[in-house]
Amino acid sequence: MLSVADNVPYKSLNTMGIEGYARRYAEWEEPSDLYTLSEPEINCLQPVIQIGEGSNLLFPDGRLDATLLVSRYRDTEVLEHDSTHITFRVGAGLRLDDFIDKTAAIGLWGLENLSHIPGTVGAAAVQNVGAYGVEFADCLESVKCFDLEDQRFTTFAASELKYGYRDSAFKHAPLHRRMIITDVTLRLSVDAKPHLDYGNLRSRLEGIPLTPMAVRDAIISIRRTKLPEITEAGSAGSFFKNPVVSADLLPAIREKAAAAGIDTTDMPVYHLADAPGSVKLSAAWLIDRGGLKGASCGSAGTWPTQPLVIVNLDGRATAADVAGLAGYIVAEVDRKFGVRLTPEVEYL
Ligand code: EPU
Repeated sequence: MLSVADNVPYKSLNTMGIEGYARRYAEWEEPSDLYTLSEPEINCLQPVIQIGEGSNLLFPDGRLDATLLVSRYRDTEVLEHDSTHITFRVGAGLRLDDFIDKTAAIGLWGLENLSHIPGTVGAAAVQNVGAYGVEFADCLESVKCFDLEDQRFTTFAASELKYGYRDSAFKHAPLHRRMIITDVTLRLSVDAKPHLDYGNLRSRLEGIPLTPMAVRDAIISIRRTKLPEITEAGSAGSFFKNPVVSADLLPAIREKAAAAGIDTTDMPVYHLADAPGSVKLSAAWLIDRGGLKGASCGSAGTWPTQPLVIVNLDGRATAADVAGLAGYIVAEVDRKFGVRLTPEVEYL
């Protein structure tokens, strides 16, 4: 059944805790409910914006002239099971972390490094969430969607969806705002496939029998020390992407930083196997060394142990505070390093 309401407050529907209301709001339980979105009596306001837990979005202050669509569809089933893998179909409304908890508990490998990331499975397929050397797309087989334009269901193989760093075809035309994700197919491994090379993950697991649950527990404890719990401070996780720049630009970046009195000897530079001429820089390092740790704008500020995260300091931050701080950070990092940060968070 599709439930519809008018003027619904969204402070609790976005993890940043921005206050305002959606002119229309609809919740669906079964994929077939999505056909009714186009019925005249639903009076569906355009655009239709499907959200998960609102954990990677910046809502506007005051009012959103759109239909906010939320999935309550969490149906999960095993599609295939052989000696090496199990393939699941998962409803878009299931929290990713709930799925990881259940599958890690039965010893399945693949998504454990993504533990404790907020958001639903459907949102993860849009954003290609990633952490500790693993991306959601690594386990993704296919995505089923309802096409709002053609009013029919369609299934894409993951290979058709242009997955990249925090990116997918769902974030761009012609799929953006057109496809409502209903189900994803995820393939997990029975055989041990640990990814332990990021940071101090391997050393934290020394002496502990290696299971997906042990890795999950280690990841959760690392994330707890670095990132704010939603009960501590509202945030949308990393606010900016780590910038990828041409390796040829490194001398100019170092020169510009030196002119601003910044030492770049310990600047993290990651070489990318799939893009040999490019390097990935650490946005957190650039923000930190750019002197922006502790910067604030109204009630929005950077998180002390991870300045890449913009938080709602006292629960009263407005979207203007957050966007103001983000804009200031972008301008200062550009001025000091000549590197342009781009938001990972989507502004609605
Ligand atoms: N750093 C500083 N100062 C700080 C904190 C960090 O300079 O105060 C530097 C350090 O050099 C550190 C580096 O930042 O080595 C990297 O920090 P971290 O390991 O926390 O990773 P990140 O690149 O900042 C990314 C993801 C996170 C993900 C972590 C762990 C992006 C934009 N962010 O952060 O994802 O959890 O790696 O894999 O890619 C998210 O997307 O919302 C998110 C939290």
